[in-house]
Amino acid sequence: MDFVTDFARPTIAVVHGQLRPEERLLFREFEQRGIDVERIDDRRIQLDLTSPPPRYDAVLGRSVSQQRTAHLLAWFHRWGIPVVNTPDALNTCNDKLLTSSALAQAGLPQPRTRVAFNVDMAMEALEELGYPAVIKPAIGSWGRLLGRVNSPDAARSILEHKLRLGSFHHGTIYLQEYVEKAGRDIRSFVVGGETIAAIYRSSDHWITNTARGAEASNCPVTPEIDELSRRAAQAVGGGILAVDLFEHPERGLLLNEINATMEFRNSIHTTGVNIPGRIVDHVLDVAMSSQSMIAGEAVPALPR
Ligand SMILES: Nc1ncnc2c1ncn2[C@@H]1O[C@H](COP(=O)(O)OP(=O)(O)O)[C@@H](O)[C@H]1O
Ligand SMILES: [Mg+2]
Repeated sequence: MDFVTDFARPTIAVVHGQLRPEERLLFREFEQRGIDVERIDDRRIQLDLTSPPPRYDAVLGRSVSQQRTAHLLAWFHRWGIPVVNTPDALNTCNDKLLTSSALAQAGLPQPRTRVAFNVDMAMEALEELGYPAVIKPAIGSWGRLLGRVNSPDAARSILEHKLRLGSFHHGTIYLQEYVEKAGRDIRSFVVGGETIAAIYRSSDHWITNTARGAEASNCPVTPEIDELSRRAAQAVGGGILAVDLFEHPERGLLLNEINATMEFRNSIHTTGVNIPGRIVDHVLDVAMSSQSMIAGEAVPALPR
């Protein structure tokens, strides 16, 4: 098949590992549109980095591991192959220090946040943030290894454990004021620059990830949620993103973090929005624009 002239049938690859409900839904969505997707299983490949990768019109990253998605998509991107999300967006979202910096640079509201690299400096930052405060791994997800501390004693002991027993990832200490958020936070979904849906995540626990048992319910996309979500997505490089927001009792909506390889299985029926369908639409848009760029020779040819 000649992908340059066959505009109707773009060549799409999906990078994945163990298949979650999300990947199965995405494959079904591609199938319903008659599009054959090349499945690249990160458990069954070994790459020759001295040769070019196969050419696709778009590659969607869906590995369970953030690192595998980021590495594989960076490889394709390096060779000029369109990837969703871009390495820049993936790297920024995978690292809370980079996310906070991107949000701050874009002038967007977020909880007060500090970073330090040893216990004494972290204790000083916590004194300034006040208690309770939250200690998080800068690189992490699913609400794992977060700590809420109510006192300097508790903080010092968590920090010492982290630095002595943690992997090198724990050497960057990411600290935030604790936001009293009345039992829930908001997760909005931004696809290709549009806020397509949002959910409340409610829990008796202060950590409201659905992976930790929080209940999902529909959250109407207000103009404010829409605008903040779109601006946050743009600040980290755009693409297919899930934005976490807190409702601060006085300061209104604050952006907490942004996820670049989101799960959405609990949000389709809840919101009535065909999220995998919207994702596939976006991937096809990216593939089509890459085809027209290649046809118009707007991008340089791959080295041979
Ligand atoms: N500063 C904070 N104040 C209040 N709750 C927080 C704060 N930071 C995180 N949480 C709670 O913990 C959850 C997970 O934190 P998050 O920063 O999103 O990390 P992860 O990448 O693990 O999802 C949030 O959805 C929220 O419920
Ligand atoms: Mg989160």
